[in-house]
Amino acid sequence: MEALHPDVSEVVLSEQDIKDIVARMGKEITADYKDKNPLVVAVLKGAVVFTADIMRAIDCPIAIDFMAVSSYGDGVKSSGVVRIVKDLDTKIEGRDVLIVEDILDSGLTLSYLIRMLEARGAKSVNVAAFLVKDVAGKKPAVHPHYVGSHVPDEFIVGYGLDYAERYRNLPYIGILKPEVYS
Ligand code: IMP
Ligand code: MG
Repeated sequence: MEALHPDVSEVVLSEQDIKDIVARMGKEITADYKDKNPLVVAVLKGAVVFTADIMRAIDCPIAIDFMAVSSYGDGVKSSGVVRIVKDLDTKIEGRDVLIVEDILDSGLTLSYLIRMLEARGAKSVNVAAFLVKDVAGKKPAVHPHYVGSHVPDEFIVGYGLDYAERYRNLPYIGILKPEVYS
């Protein structure tokens, strides 16, 4: 096993945990979409790693496209303001869309995206979130159809998730030490 990154206090999901979760989610998505030719929409940049894995775990025809939205800057709290940085290349009217997200915190980013894609005439819009952050006393604005795992209300990095663009390349999901961002 490789050494833990010095800025990470704890591993929440190991590489093997991630593999098992992706395989399970791939089966669920395959069962629901086998006759639908969905458009898988990855939300850049955090979801790229999960997208690369989950698309290979889906055993039916799919297309993929990418969107980039920004709600965080380099901070650690959602601003609630979502800016489209890169839009889809695909027309989604009449398509079954599956949004792939890295982590759902407040859900503000996703609820905005879902409303936008529905307004463009998508036939259905569902969400596969690799992680859902459990925040005491707060209900997220969106309930994803597919959830990989719940994580504690800490700042999470690795497997695509960053803090100020770092740590995306860690192969596991870990908790960032608060002294790194405070
Ligand atoms: P929401 O709009 O509050 O749900 O925030 C969702 C987005 O914020 C995610 O797509 C991530 O890019 C980012 N985010 C939220 N929590 C974390 C975290 O713990 N680590 C890294 N990024 C996060
Ligand atoms: Mg993101």
